[in-house]
Amino acid sequence: MKFFIDTANLAQIQEAHDLGILDGVTTNPSLMAKEGVKGADAIIEHYRKICEIVDGDVSAEVFSTKFEDIIEEGKKLAAIHKKIIVKVPMIKDGVKAIKWFTDNGIATNCTLVFSAGQAILAAKAGAKYVSPFVGRIDDSGWDGMELVSQITHIYQLQNYKTEVLVASIRNPNHIIRAAELGADVITSPLSSILGLLYHPLTDIGLAKFLEDAKKM
Ligand code: G3P
Repeated sequence: MKFFIDTANLAQIQEAHDLGILDGVTTNPSLMAKEGVKGADAIIEHYRKICEIVDGDVSAEVFSTKFEDIIEEGKKLAAIHKKIIVKVPMIKDGVKAIKWFTDNGIATNCTLVFSAGQAILAAKAGAKYVSPFVGRIDDSGWDGMELVSQITHIYQLQNYKTEVLVASIRNPNHIIRAAELGADVITSPLSSILGLLYHPLTDIGLAKFLEDAKKM
């Protein structure tokens, strides 16, 4: 399972990269705005900086919702760097645009996916990645991982090549569950990735080893 970090924060991307486990980055308009990135030139420059840090795919989301506009914006994003994956929302014009990008050699990540039906459409249109938002589903009182289970099952049965990218991760357990369900990728905040590191017995055990090491 690939590990992507879900942020536009350069320091966090660098930290995850330095840990040696980073396979890519996903961003969205909210995450870019959080970093204070404003204006076309600044956006392009920020994506370039991300691409220079990470060895892997970098999802950059379109702001447009009409087919022709999505195509124009997606072409510009894809031209920034070969690592860029054009992130397109799961709407009617988005599905049409994903198909166009697929036919024209531009890789896509279909975002804002909340149902198996949407995931089937994303795969049919040829998206490289499909992004079910597990945390937001959990926040609404449903079970995000149930959807991941459904999508991975359907994709396997139908031999769809689209990779299941579990997004909207809220905690380390989401990452573990995604791995158990055979997801291809998770995209997570740095805190949940680092959360995988910790166990109290590791801390207790290490403290004892270090104490005993002084006696050697
Ligand atoms: O980038 C898409 C997704 O991961 C957003 O997560 O935390 O805003 O629900 P969140």
